[in-house]
Amino acid sequence: MSDQRRAASERAGSVSARASEPTTGVVGTPFKPKCILVTGGAGFIGSNFIRHLLAADRSVRIVNADCLTYAGNLENLADVTADEPRYTFAKADICETATIVALCHEHGIDSIINFAAESHVDRSIEGAAPFIRTNVQGTLSLLEAARACGNLRFLQVGTDEVYGTLGDEGLFTESTPLDPHSPYSASKAAADHLVSAFGTTYGLPVIITRCSNNYGPFQFPEKMIPLMINNARQNKPLPVYGDGSNIRDWLHVEDHCTAIHAALCIGRPGRVYNIGGNSERKNIDVVKTILKFMGKPDSLITYVKDRPGHDFRYAIDATRARDELGWLPMTKFETGIEQTINWYLSHQNWLDHVTSGTYREYCEQMYAKR
Ligand code: NAD
Ligand code: DAU
Repeated sequence: MSDQRRAASERAGSVSARASEPTTGVVGTPFKPKCILVTGGAGFIGSNFIRHLLAADRSVRIVNADCLTYAGNLENLADVTADEPRYTFAKADICETATIVALCHEHGIDSIINFAAESHVDRSIEGAAPFIRTNVQGTLSLLEAARACGNLRFLQVGTDEVYGTLGDEGLFTESTPLDPHSPYSASKAAADHLVSAFGTTYGLPVIITRCSNNYGPFQFPEKMIPLMINNARQNKPLPVYGDGSNIRDWLHVEDHCTAIHAALCIGRPGRVYNIGGNSERKNIDVVKTILKFMGKPDSLITYVKDRPGHDFRYAIDATRARDELGWLPMTKFETGIEQTINWYLSHQNWLDHVTSGTYREYCEQMYAKR
């Protein structure tokens, strides 16, 4: 971990020390997790979070419950978990409440962070059912398990997509009304409502984070940035939806991890925290940046049929996270994207592995008709 990263992760601890002071706006005693159930920890953000937290908190234990869908990959954690006694993997489906309750009892879990989800918008447009099952029923199942185990602290990893879309101006705040447009974001909004309801109705100590688009190592190459890097390295066309003018706010996954750690330890139960990267970019500019860093020609860019219901712009006001959690994103997009490209290019075995077999069928089905 770099010095900059270590400073950012240690901020969760240093802000914790200040959290009981009234000037921070945070109420109550900081929470010090001893054993966390991380769900979906074999996916992109979950695996980065586990790696991050094991380094940032030398005493915490983590149980990773993941049912290993196409997006779950234990290789994502191979380097950190081989000889790590503080880490346990359990192949488990979050929809099975009894299994989750048993895991919580067995390991003395004191908090749950729910990363597990069906996470790709385009797949949700092809078929919503798996999204309702995992994102809605699965979240409900985890909430019931948290209650059954004595009201465990519960952090729901949410998304800015629940707010819908923005025009050229404005930012999403935590009080922006939910207005989801895709089956994916509708399922995540439903989950957020359930989480809030369990806080209000049963006093479950719930926290929701809603963050913008993540990028970084170990992201499955169905998402735009790793898909473009993977295609560019093979000199394949880079499929840009519509005219490429849609805007996303890019957040390096390490910055997301420090935000989740801070929210878990010093977030106020019942609160929502928006997390953003302060890095709004048009899709076409991101794609051109990738090609430039990789020394590939712009002629690889291919404009394809737009995503139905494609949200135009996401942008986050993360003032609350700054004021209450002491959190700020540390990674400049130009630095983060270069590091990310270099990571994929130096992990081509990983890319080859995750893009073999059914990935090719997926691409044929998803892109042939565009
Ligand atoms: P991902 O698709 O890479 O990983 C999801 C993980 O969940 C996989 O390991 C998968 O096996 C597991 N999983 C799926 N269904 C499960 C089930 N029923 N039981 C147990 N495990 C299951 O997703 P990601 O990009 O890492 O996203 C993690 C979370 O962050 C999601 O909740 C997503 O909505 C949210 N989020 C992601 C982004 C982003 O840019 N990637 C941005 C905002 C919010
Ligand atoms: O904003 C947070 C969300 O970000 C998360 O909740 C989702 O889990 C995550 O997948 C992501 O959603 P997006 O739909 O914004 O990400 P995706 O990488 O799929 O697409 C980013 C932008 O790039 C979007 O405007 C669509 C466009 N795109 C995407 C793909 C896959 C293309 O132009 N071509 C592509 O091939």
